[in-house]
Amino acid sequence: MKNILITGGAGFIGSNLTKKLVSLGYNIVILDCFLPQIHGENYHESYTYKQVKNIATIIKGSVLSKEDWIKATKGIDAIIHLAAETGTGQSMYNISQYCNSNIIGTSLMWDVIAQQENRTIKKVIIASSRAIYGEGKYHCKDHGTIYPDMRNDKDLSKGDYNVKCHLCNQNAKALATTEDSLIHAASVYGFTKAAQEELCMITGKSINIPVASLRYQNVYGPGQSLKNPYTGILSIFSNLIRNKQAINIFEDGMESRDFIYIDDVVNATTLALQNNKANFQSFNVGSGKRTTVLQVANSLMKALNIETEINITGQYRISDIRENFADLTKIESLLGFKPKVEFQKGITSFINWVKEQEIEEDNYEQSLLEMKNAGLFKDIKS
Ligand SMILES: NC(=O)c1ccc[n+]([C@@H]2O[C@H](COP(=O)([O-])OP(=O)(O)OC[C@H]3O[C@@H](n4cnc5c(N)ncnc54)[C@H](O)[C@@H]3O)[C@@H](O)[C@H]2O)c1
Ligand SMILES: [Zn+2]
Repeated sequence: MKNILITGGAGFIGSNLTKKLVSLGYNIVILDCFLPQIHGENYHESYTYKQVKNIATIIKGSVLSKEDWIKATKGIDAIIHLAAETGTGQSMYNISQYCNSNIIGTSLMWDVIAQQENRTIKKVIIASSRAIYGEGKYHCKDHGTIYPDMRNDKDLSKGDYNVKCHLCNQNAKALATTEDSLIHAASVYGFTKAAQEELCMITGKSINIPVASLRYQNVYGPGQSLKNPYTGILSIFSNLIRNKQAINIFEDGMESRDFIYIDDVVNATTLALQNNKANFQSFNVGSGKRTTVLQVANSLMKALNIETEINITGQYRISDIRENFADLTKIESLLGFKPKVEFQKGITSFINWVKEQEIEEDNYEQSLLEMKNAGLFKDIKS
């Protein structure tokens, strides 16, 4: 396998992956439509586009076009399908857009593979997400392992952010999410990722094309979009800090995520491409550790050496989960993957890169307004 198609290859994960695979001797073709939300109005100026424009064959096109898929898959041995709409909050009011790009786009890929004469494709890697687990896996004192429902508006509006057992309503404790955890997304985005993954597994098995699904946790590092106000608190917070604006932290600041540095994600993805043990398997790709949103804000201020005000607002977004961290036993035992980059070290590398970038115009407030108008962003009742 030498010729690899990376859809969304001009984005954050794709551009970093392209650089790595090119250095290993692969030929890379990129299919990307250069979404303005990610790349700005003029994609020629986009940081991640510039990273790949001279080292890969770039096809400007959409995963929603069968013709573009046919063009992009000519002579290709394996596809790494990353192209997607990625904003969890935004997915809750642009539902058909998310279903189209993420689900219909993936179904067109399989149409083209299934119908390819003299089929060349031998493997598909699909970018899934921790979002497919929703609130994830918890422990209840009385009911053992549980998969709680989304937190309800009634509790949240009173400032009670705890995840509760859906059977007895007492507070539950988060456990590391294993791959066999219940799939029950809490957002349209998560739903589309789960659908993509299952569609790939079903179709891949039926026509005997190995599929590996990678459930990425929160990925960060150089190249992540600083323009997209819908994803990534690291981008949002670092923009605010550099603009010397106050940071509003939702809930009580103790909500947490599992942050994984981009180089680790690239390594895990490369292993999944190269190792047959990954075939027809799904893997968590994370650091296995939780970091609270408050810690993130403090780490960024330290690395930027700028102090801004932090307001813990108590506000909340419907479809935000409380906390999540990955169990990495499977990927370690089957693929030998272990994350290498510690959070504070990764943050320092990220900030060193951020400092070289222009300060972006801040569209974050606008994104919150859109969520507010859709009834998805709320204040606690005082
Ligand atoms: N970054 C994370 O934290 C994270 C976490 C979990 C899963 N993922 C998944 O990993 C993949 C890559 O994410 P990323 O962070 O690099 O996102 P990104 O937005 O930086 O890159 C996605 C790329 O896909 C392109 N794209 C979007 N719609 C397209 C379409 N219809 N046709 C062609 N190209 C299109 C965009 O222009 C962009 O270049 C996505 O599938 C995402 O859901 C990312
Ligand atoms: Zn219980």
